[in-house]
Amino acid sequence: METKKNYINGQWVLSVTERKREIICPSNGEIIAYTTESNEADAKAAIKAAREAFYVTGEWRRMSGTDRADYLYQIADEITARGEELARTDTLDNGKPLREAQGDVSDAAACFKYYAGLITKPQGGVYEVNNGFGPMHSYTVHEPVGVCAQITPWNYPLLMAVWKLAPALAAGNCIVFKPSENAPLSTVLLFEIFEKVGLPKGTVNLVLGTGPEVGAVFAESEEVDMITFTGSTKTGQSIMKAAAGNLKKIGLELGGKSPNIVFADCDFEGAIEWAMIGIFFNSGQVCSAGSRLIIEDSIKDKFLARLKERAEAITIGPGLLDPDMGAIITKAQMEKVLGYIQSGIQEGAVLVCGGERYMEGECAKGFFIKPTIFDHCTREMKIVREEIFGPVLTVQTFKTEEEAIALANDTPYGLAGTVCTLNSARALRVMKEIRAGIMWINCCQPTFNEAPWGGYKMSGIGRELGVHGLEEYQEVKQVNIALETGPIGWFMH
Ligand code: NAI
Ligand code: MG
Repeated sequence: METKKNYINGQWVLSVTERKREIICPSNGEIIAYTTESNEADAKAAIKAAREAFYVTGEWRRMSGTDRADYLYQIADEITARGEELARTDTLDNGKPLREAQGDVSDAAACFKYYAGLITKPQGGVYEVNNGFGPMHSYTVHEPVGVCAQITPWNYPLLMAVWKLAPALAAGNCIVFKPSENAPLSTVLLFEIFEKVGLPKGTVNLVLGTGPEVGAVFAESEEVDMITFTGSTKTGQSIMKAAAGNLKKIGLELGGKSPNIVFADCDFEGAIEWAMIGIFFNSGQVCSAGSRLIIEDSIKDKFLARLKERAEAITIGPGLLDPDMGAIITKAQMEKVLGYIQSGIQEGAVLVCGGERYMEGECAKGFFIKPTIFDHCTREMKIVREEIFGPVLTVQTFKTEEEAIALANDTPYGLAGTVCTLNSARALRVMKEIRAGIMWINCCQPTFNEAPWGGYKMSGIGRELGVHGLEEYQEVKQVNIALETGPIGWFMH
């Protein structure tokens, strides 16, 4: 197997370390590829190339929006053309069911098209100004930030890369990129596409390696103008500290512990289905997972009985067989999730279903966990407080709307939330009280390229996607033009 290389300054190169990393398929524990394993020197070479491209050559940033859009449309078309390869790659690398990976591919192509369209639309503004300096014309232009470092997680390898790359490229930035070392392969394919469409040399640079060896170098570097990151809150905090040196612009999309509030007057079967999607989609490895079910006491028993029945019917297996639910990303992550399950049991939560590894047949070689539901959860329990990032749902009950809101907000996170009720006034009232960046009413998880995505509180800073997602990657320049020249006699009387 050929070792996957870094892409720096338009060249595919091995790391100076000469080390390589085994890339493992979580469905069977087998090695599916090797990647070069980079260090600080590689990260710095990539930063240097991106700086040259942005500050010296400047081809990409000086190009018109319509010309950049042409490249982005070509990238979208190449993603579609190589869609099956991309989907199978994410399925093997991450373990997700094939149809979910196929969905990620079509979302990724659409995301490039969305930003290709957006960058050709009017930007900036014209301001009516008057403060005694004489007639002036004032306007704003949006400009790229410069060299952007981007670091992605492993749960949506292709899609998280595209959410960052499409707006940053549309805006005219140059990029140094590090995918998660746990699922880097689809990002390598994406960079092959960038090479094929002929992005100017140094515009996009890929460095394969770990967080401490590569990501931390990006975060600290005074040659990087902006850093955006999706991943754990702990790593987000360390990036924010490291970024302070040169006051980098930052964008952080971090963890969550999102409430799913279900009232007795909900559409019962609908709420069941959204609760399932909320916690078992992508094996619960979703930042916005509806991991805390907060349910009205009067329907809890009936709801949990049905949810258990549905959860136990979930098919589990290797992603290529397209089961309902695939594997957990790594052995370590599986053990972490199993550790949370043990802590739930020890702290007195009651298992409704699951609670253990899934070991049927060939699955014993992979990293699978049964859909798990815990009843009788209390606010102090670790499983209620911490992001588990696996197929584990906690259940708490309420009697009044106020109690439901208090439980929902009882978390340091604020990424998302769901409210299920057919009383629309109540739905809107409760939605308004939840401190979170994304709210779903009578649904859970649908995500759109057109709408802003991001969190309140410890779930992050800034927004991805939509118009906000482009503006994150832009500086705003105010320009003032005097409409009359000559001395105005203002400074010296
Ligand atoms: P992580 O946050 O450590 O890794 C995400 C990315 O950050 C990877 O590319 C990693 O190499 C990089 N990274 C790690 N340390 C870094 C550093 N010091 N400086 C710069 N970059 C660094 O997440 P990990 O270890 O893969 O998973 C741990 C937990 O994080 C999960 O159990 C889950 O709770 C959470 N997580 C949340 C995600 C989300 O979308 N909210 C996504 C992935 C993980
Ligand atoms: Mg993998």
